[in-house]
Amino acid sequence: TENQQLFSLTAAFAVRLSGTKYGCGIGGCGACTVMISTYEPTSKKIMHYPANSCLLPICSLHSSAVTTVEGVGSTKTRVHPIQERLAKCHGSQCGFCTPGMVMSMYALLRNHPEPSMEQITAALDGRFTFTIVSRILQNGGNQVCYEFQPVDPTQEFIFPPELMRMAQEQQKRTLVFRGERTTWISPTNLRELLELKAMYPKAPLIVGNTRLEMKRDGVHHPVFIHPTRIPDLHVVSNTNNGLVIGAACSLAQLRDILMKVVPELPEEKTKIFRALLQQLKTLAGEQIRSLASLGGHIVSRGSTWDLNPVLAVGNSVLSLASKDGTRQIPLNDQFLAGYENADLKPKEIIVSVFIPYSKKDDFVSAFRQAERRRNAVSVVNSGMRVLFKPNTDIIMDMNILYGGTGPITVSARKSCQRLIGRQWNEQMLDEACKLVLGEISLSPSAPGGKVEYRRTLLVSFLFKFYLEVLYGLNKMYPAKFPDLSKKNLSALGAFHSEVPQGMQTYQVSEDVDPVQPPQDPVGRPIMHQSGVKHATGEAVYCNDIRAVDEELFLAVVTSSRAHAKIVTIDVSEALKVPGVVDVVTAEDVPGKNGTDDEQAYAKDEVICVGQIVCAVVAESAVQAKQGVEKMKIEYEDLEPILTIEDAIKHNSYFGKEKKIEQGNIEEGFKSADEIIEGEIHIGGQEHFYLETNSVLVVPRGEDNEMDVHVSTQDAARVQEFVALALDVQSSKIMCHTKRVGGAFGGKITKPAIFAVVAAVAANKTGRPIRFTLERDEDMLITGGRHPFFGKYKVGFTNDGRITAADIEPYINAGCTLDDSEMVIEYVVLKTDNAYKIPNLRIRGRACKTNLPSNTAFRGFGFPQSGLFTESWITTVATQTGLPQEKIREINMYKEVNLTPFKEELDATNLVKCWKECMEKSEYYSRKTAVEEFNKQNYWKKKGIAIIPMKFSVGFNATQYHQAAALVHIYTDGSVLVTHGGIELGQGIHTKMLQIASRELKVPLSYVHFCETSTITVPNAIVTAGSIGSDVNGKAVQNACQILRKRLEPIINKNPEGKWEDWITEAYDQSVSLSATGYFRGYMVNMNWDTGEGQAFPYFVFGAACSEVEIDCLTGDHKNIRTDIVMDACFSINPAVDIGQIEGAFVQGVGLYTMEEIKFSPEGEQYTLGPDTYKIPAVCDIPEQFRVYLLPNSRNPIAIYSAKGIGEAGLFLGCSVFFAIWDAVAAVRKERGLTGTFTLNSPLTIERIRMACADNFTEMVRLDDHNGLFWPWNL
Ligand SMILES: Cc1cc2nc3c(=O)[nH]c(=O)nc-3n(C[C@H](O)[C@H](O)[C@H](O)COP(=O)(O)OP(=O)(O)OC[C@H]3O[C@@H](n4cnc5c(N)ncnc54)[C@H](O)[C@@H]3O)c2cc1C
Ligand code: FES
Repeated sequence: TENQQLFSLTAAFAVRLSGTKYGCGIGGCGACTVMISTYEPTSKKIMHYPANSCLLPICSLHSSAVTTVEGVGSTKTRVHPIQERLAKCHGSQCGFCTPGMVMSMYALLRNHPEPSMEQITAALDGRFTFTIVSRILQNGGNQVCYEFQPVDPTQEFIFPPELMRMAQEQQKRTLVFRGERTTWISPTNLRELLELKAMYPKAPLIVGNTRLEMKRDGVHHPVFIHPTRIPDLHVVSNTNNGLVIGAACSLAQLRDILMKVVPELPEEKTKIFRALLQQLKTLAGEQIRSLASLGGHIVSRGSTWDLNPVLAVGNSVLSLASKDGTRQIPLNDQFLAGYENADLKPKEIIVSVFIPYSKKDDFVSAFRQAERRRNAVSVVNSGMRVLFKPNTDIIMDMNILYGGTGPITVSARKSCQRLIGRQWNEQMLDEACKLVLGEISLSPSAPGGKVEYRRTLLVSFLFKFYLEVLYGLNKMYPAKFPDLSKKNLSALGAFHSEVPQGMQTYQVSEDVDPVQPPQDPVGRPIMHQSGVKHATGEAVYCNDIRAVDEELFLAVVTSSRAHAKIVTIDVSEALKVPGVVDVVTAEDVPGKNGTDDEQAYAKDEVICVGQIVCAVVAESAVQAKQGVEKMKIEYEDLEPILTIEDAIKHNSYFGKEKKIEQGNIEEGFKSADEIIEGEIHIGGQEHFYLETNSVLVVPRGEDNEMDVHVSTQDAARVQEFVALALDVQSSKIMCHTKRVGGAFGGKITKPAIFAVVAAVAANKTGRPIRFTLERDEDMLITGGRHPFFGKYKVGFTNDGRITAADIEPYINAGCTLDDSEMVIEYVVLKTDNAYKIPNLRIRGRACKTNLPSNTAFRGFGFPQSGLFTESWITTVATQTGLPQEKIREINMYKEVNLTPFKEELDATNLVKCWKECMEKSEYYSRKTAVEEFNKQNYWKKKGIAIIPMKFSVGFNATQYHQAAALVHIYTDGSVLVTHGGIELGQGIHTKMLQIASRELKVPLSYVHFCETSTITVPNAIVTAGSIGSDVNGKAVQNACQILRKRLEPIINKNPEGKWEDWITEAYDQSVSLSATGYFRGYMVNMNWDTGEGQAFPYFVFGAACSEVEIDCLTGDHKNIRTDIVMDACFSINPAVDIGQIEGAFVQGVGLYTMEEIKFSPEGEQYTLGPDTYKIPAVCDIPEQFRVYLLPNSRNPIAIYSAKGIGEAGLFLGCSVFFAIWDAVAAVRKERGLTGTFTLNSPLTIERIRMACADNFTEMVRLDDHNGLFWPWNL
């Protein structure tokens, strides 16, 4: 839309500066961070701040300097110290968001050359962290010392002098930018601004542009006014009664002002300021805080905006101005509700905000609870204030406002009035809670869901306020008001995490042979092959490929119905949009339209919301999207099936039941002392790779040849699908993948569909097609991890031995089969996790529903089945009264065993990992400390859990393990390695180069990797299942060994010669310097008819111990410490492998504790971006995070005795889940709630809070609506 064109600075960057990445477009991911520098002519100061370029209107940058990552440092000039450190300390994986990290740090260092750790974490606030950026935060226990280049003063930022001159001149001149339909005006003084506002009353004032509606609403605004150059709007003054802050001051400036003012004033005057500061610390991320203005915040009045309730209870006053004069209005609940007589008039603007000093007998508090502690909008927030009659606890005035309970911030005005004159005591609290719950209504169908939780927060916050005031009264008048009881003290205090500290211990000293030549890099922590390029932004991803001549852009039209017949597709209006070239539908596919299972373009019927129906191709991406908006599709609705329960009811499954059984289940139950039965739900997970799906298809113009550049884990599949769709031979389709910006299983099957969609369009138009999904489209269309439902019946003896388990797992496959059959097979095969259950029956089903098709995801079913098993193990512990770790120990596999499907399993290293983890984590002493803490703290609880893991690597079919490589040696001695594996950030190419270097006995600098392509290695298997490096490594090794063997006679003749001499000699002797290497694959066979076989090549073992603390009143939790011991055997590259373990673990923490996909009752996904779907951020890294690789361990069947550990660590994230479970159990025990209980995953703030049942949850539950309502979400 035109608005998008205006606002997207990244669109301008798309031309050349591709280091700035586009991850979400709504200010939520930080991948697009740049530094903005401005010159302030009056103060002669240069200001720097980080900003999300996806929100920056281009016109707003006139006379500002924009520094992108390219301006910080590059391999062509000199790498900046930040970039160097990030790369050398292994701080990047896929590298897609790394430039954004660099820019956040760079802007911080510009303002604070020696930042504190707190400032560093604040700068990275909310930055996502499946990657290992934590490394730069963590003070390394690493045994490796890195050498860094000295700082080069020529890299210092220089503000362009001509911009200084412009800034000075511009002071006096109105700036007007005219587009075809939109005009942007930037006035110089207040009078001019007010005249403009009188002339264009509907024109928005754009300051930070972080109120996203403008970007999203599609409403055309002919005029925008940019008031940021007007000094009156930047005023900061300290009056006798309070502070006056200009409306255009950013929230970051407001924070800095308050931080300066608070220590300078008497404490009693600063209560409102301190409450504001508390909100400002966790409100959004630093980029948004730097952009968003106080005036914009107040006027946009988002229901969850955090400052408004505090400003309102603090009796702030808005100074307004219009052409007709000035006036002041209170910022109160009526203003926030938008009542006409309390609001701005269309021609008025806010000039400044007056925030009064608090009084001596005032008490002010602020609360907010979000789904993630940082960079997430609140679920509920509040500002509360009470004024007492001097020297008493008699309420003279009281004001409470809540955000997050509906579309606007609301006041508990009536409740407060009823409480005036009352004493501040428990009876008052009790009545206040009842009054507030009566006054603040929240319908059971309220948008956003979480209704009970939100209502609980209303009263939990009130209770916290009650205690904070009691505490304050005692501090003010110790003689009059007693100390707060120890029990209640624990409800107070901010719940912030400490700066994370990390330690990684691995093999270098123990396992790498001391006589290994220094040139041989195997086993050493070599930096990621693209690490520096990640940090400089030079690493090229699919959409960074430069514009191709005549290229067109493609955007898709997706189904808005979960299940419906397509009646008509009307393309006429779309074709009229300027720039639109064509609309492509299923009719245009010359060959096969996807697979029998999954159509590329829907034909006749749609089977989920988000299914691709047709595509619009246009000269620009914006025009293609405009065309999509004009498409009209008529549907006839059919009945959808959405949930697993629905599918079970309708017998709607894919394939047959998958079953394995061992022992005699009936006998097993007979020998049990007790039997328990239960169910558990585990939610799905969005892959949230930072690079969305992307493909560029270029017809070569002869013989039907086509190049397909694609972000995929499986280039061969893309090639096959495109060839079938175009009805040409595979040999005509050339697929290329340089690197992928994260995949996690999500780019195994789906990219082939996107490539077909684009290739059919390229075939129809004869022009290259670029197709990059927006974040919301990617989340809508691609599915994710399978939601899971499991039923169990478990028999056990009183001493904790499990005698029998009858298990029924179900997964929600969505609307097509995709990889779901394999996922349910893995669920069934891996359910035993680390336990020998003598009598076990597992029967699994993949449910067919009308949700988007779910697909592969790191761990492939095991994260669900493993959590399920650990849940019933935990329940057995509760039931027997024995400690969880004892039940785990008693039932754990020991020594050599058989799995339930009769595969041999040597569990020696499982037990070693468990014991070592117990020891390293000091489990027992910390468990005692946790118990002690819990005795002392009623409203905060700690929990600790240790979880063992058996993870099976690879696939249960031999052909999926085959791999090939092609290695060329050129006459100058340089080596080009290529193989079938794809770089997803897991460091596969780094490892392959290490292998080639060892086998050829040449330094790493001689060896290069260019791209994965179907031209060089045909029929490559998908890069997945943790075996990519294993099997491709064997192929590279094979190719290099062949070459080395060919060279041997020459080397033997001239042993003192150099590599280059031998290569020249080989060429002269006509010895081929190119070889293919091959690995047939690990032999596996699984027979599902008998339920027996060798399903996996080998197992990875591990154990993790986590400790958490929960806030019982809000459900918040923080990860205090995690110790992981992983049996990675001999790691080819321990830095890369530990990065995989850490990244996967954090992704597991996300799966099990925060990531929640929500659907409407009609099957429409609500969670379509980082604003609604929260993945872990820097604040979720455990404060103490220690990873140990089990020493002296070997895996004889794999290359150099390594193990694939790309996925295993994810499951260990559940140690956090069970630590929370442990804390919740402590709460429930203390509250007298005995017996077993179930916790579903993800264990979100909402679930934790509601499980910590108390008076407040009870008050809310009493208000039940007898289920007579239409829920907001499924
Ligand atoms: C990713 C993200 C995360 C966020 N997280 C949080 C959070 O955790 N907590 C929170 O509280 N908020 C959060 N926000 C919201 C943020 O606080 C507001 O969007 C912001 O304060 C609006 O200010 P702005 O300068 O960007 O307004 P703009 O978008 O520039 O303008 C918003 C509106 O205000 C009007 N306006 C602006 N200035 C004036 C004025 N002086 N007089 C009259 N009208 C004016 C404009 O006409 C426009 O209609 C988040 C936003 C984003 C994008
Ligand atoms: S792309 Fe700008 S914040 Fe995500």
